[in-house]
Amino acid sequence: MANIVLGITGSIAAYKAADIASQLTKAGHTVTCVLTKAAEEFVTPLTLATLSRRPVVSDLFAEKEGWQPGHIQLADDANLLLIAPATANVLASLAHGFANDALTAIALATRAPILIAPAMNGKMWQHPATQRNVETLKSWGVRFVEPAEGLLACGYEGVGRLAPVEEIVAAVTGLLA
Ligand SMILES: Cc1cc2nc3c(=O)[nH]c(=O)nc-3n(C[C@H](O)[C@H](O)[C@H](O)COP(=O)(O)O)c2cc1C
Repeated sequence: MANIVLGITGSIAAYKAADIASQLTKAGHTVTCVLTKAAEEFVTPLTLATLSRRPVVSDLFAEKEGWQPGHIQLADDANLLLIAPATANVLASLAHGFANDALTAIALATRAPILIAPAMNGKMWQHPATQRNVETLKSWGVRFVEPAEGLLACGYEGVGRLAPVEEIVAAVTGLLA
């Protein structure tokens, strides 16, 4: 069973991360949820802590125990960093090496495989900036669960929906196998 860091960002699909955390925990994995500030607008740390049976991380500077920064320890101990859902903003941060919150700092510090499931408005997804960021991340070995097509929360039809939770969980299982 694996140590999985589940990064959750400020997408309307963030509530689905609760189901992902629950399914991976029930499968026997140790799941540590790491939320961006924006993610907390969409899903509560309490929900994620309860479903993952572990404290969640959202503040890079909330260091309470030990001498080693918590985010570095999480990065070192991880067998997988899964970011689901991933915003356009976090894809840009990762592709440019920013580390201004716990999630992006962990992403930069870990040497575990990274799996990303983006979710956003179709025009944001298709924008050359986002597509270039995805290509950059892929060129570094980052894996993607591509967004699905359908009715988006913003009211448009198109590509940008978070891939089905089952598909994301299956991708995790495949990567860890
Ligand atoms: C109601 C609402 C829904 C949003 N949904 C998304 C989304 O699905 N994908 C996305 O990339 N940004 C979305 N955003 C914008 C992000 O929340 C915003 O870019 C934020 O800065 C992302 O921060 P983070 O990447 O640190 O989580 C949404 C914003 C609002 C107000």
